[in-house]
Amino acid sequence: MSDQPTYYVTTPIYYVNDAPHIGHAYTTLACDVLARFKRLDGYDVRFLTGTDEHGQKVEKSAQAAGMDPQAFTDKVSQNFRDLADFMNFSHDDFIRTTEDRHVKACQAVWKKLEEAGDIYLDNYGGWYAVRDEAFYGEDELTKTRDGKRIAPSGAEVEWVEEPSYFFKLSAWGDKLLAHYEKNPDFILPDSRRNEVMSFVKGGLNDLSISRTTFNWGVKVPGDDAHIMYVWLDALTNYITAVGYPDTDSDLYKKYWPADLHMVGKDILRFHTVYWPAFLMAAGIEPPKRVFAHGWWTNEGQKISKSLGNVIDPVDLANKYGLDQVRYFLLREVPFGNDGDFSHQAMVNRMNGELANDFGNLAQRVLSMIAKNCNGQVPTPGDLSDDDKALLDAAGGLLSDVRGHMDRQAFHTALEAIWTVIRAANGYVDRQAPWKLRKEDPARMETVLYVLAEAIRHLAILCQPVMPETMSKMLDQLGVGEDARGFESLGEAGALTPGADLPKPEGVFPRFVEEETGA
Ligand code: MSP
Repeated sequence: MSDQPTYYVTTPIYYVNDAPHIGHAYTTLACDVLARFKRLDGYDVRFLTGTDEHGQKVEKSAQAAGMDPQAFTDKVSQNFRDLADFMNFSHDDFIRTTEDRHVKACQAVWKKLEEAGDIYLDNYGGWYAVRDEAFYGEDELTKTRDGKRIAPSGAEVEWVEEPSYFFKLSAWGDKLLAHYEKNPDFILPDSRRNEVMSFVKGGLNDLSISRTTFNWGVKVPGDDAHIMYVWLDALTNYITAVGYPDTDSDLYKKYWPADLHMVGKDILRFHTVYWPAFLMAAGIEPPKRVFAHGWWTNEGQKISKSLGNVIDPVDLANKYGLDQVRYFLLREVPFGNDGDFSHQAMVNRMNGELANDFGNLAQRVLSMIAKNCNGQVPTPGDLSDDDKALLDAAGGLLSDVRGHMDRQAFHTALEAIWTVIRAANGYVDRQAPWKLRKEDPARMETVLYVLAEAIRHLAILCQPVMPETMSKMLDQLGVGEDARGFESLGEAGALTPGADLPKPEGVFPRFVEEETGA
């Protein structure tokens, strides 16, 4: 095998009960940006997304749509693929839990757990929330005035009583705690890590891992009356996709354990308690990290179908531009915190940071080059301290940004880039190349060259977040497709003085409110 470093990043697999919305797009966007970043940084990347198609919730949605569950999941799963294409996501694989490869992997995991003595047959009597596909203890529930019981997530629970296989989760508490202690970055952000640790310290109950009252799921090997609990089935997707149970396969050897499972805060417990316990019990190494991000609200309100305020990412991108939306979602909130979507906040960032700060910088510089340098990359002379300071700031960005990205801190990565964008704008104002045109044309060329070089750095580093727009900007700088990886950042002479440049065109339009006439 080559010694190229690898990076395996996964999204949760999405329930096919519903149309994709901003929450789904957000989780996958974060992974897409990491995948693109790592590819540009020289890694061999595997980026997985897909759909979660079994269980009661999906079966009920199929029934409500009057469709056979397989036909229903085929249809809804396609909507998620379409969204991924529309959002320009660069996943390498799209997994569906109804695929044969996955059924095979689930059954193999089950057998491993059984062989390890971690499964026993009993009866389950307790509360279940179909919306969360989760079991809850009586002490976790609250009662509404009309006597309904509600889980902490807000989902209504129902009483379930049926024969069930159990996983001996209670035996794994200490091993899980030892794992968290030994791997302080296993759960990020830290607040989530603390939350999980206190949950585990509180003691774990054995977990019901099979159902008998419906049959839309993977059959338990050797006992057809049972189907596997949908979360055991769903979590297994992360190893199915790298070839499990064929642990000798190239994919598996290369990419497992995964570097990162990206999840929303609502599904943290499944990924940081159940999943590593299943894996350890099956003799499989746990993933290296689980990062839980926050939730979006819409203009201050919880997003819900009943409130009718669900945000469709396609509408957003059609209104503001896809890369503008990608930028906004990752810049607006410290990644990990909850965030609020508002039209005003979107327009402020789009007009302020994209159109004014970055767009004007590129447009000013490229049009001065077009007009005053014959449309060719300018030729630099000796560099002043001011020139060197800007080039150093641009040159130092990669290691800074890399550090932020390695902790999934997209907002601080972008902030660091924008510090240099602002510095470049300050430099333009100070150096006033438009004045130098007559006074000192050679110096003007140096200044414009320094700026072009700074913009090259900025555009290369912004590619993961805004791939389409940055590709246009790099075209206008005459940077070839093969010179856009991070290794080319440090190459002196990446811009060839005298090379012809295409006609510059603005890449960041301003959002102009339409006159309503009101
Ligand atoms: N099927 C499970 C995951 C199984 S992974 C082995 C599931 N699916 S989901 O479709 O309900 O949600 C997927 C992701 O969307 C979660 O990470 C969730 O946090 C995210 N979001 C759903 N609504 C959201 C917001 N309003 N804001 C941000 N993300 C949210 O859970």
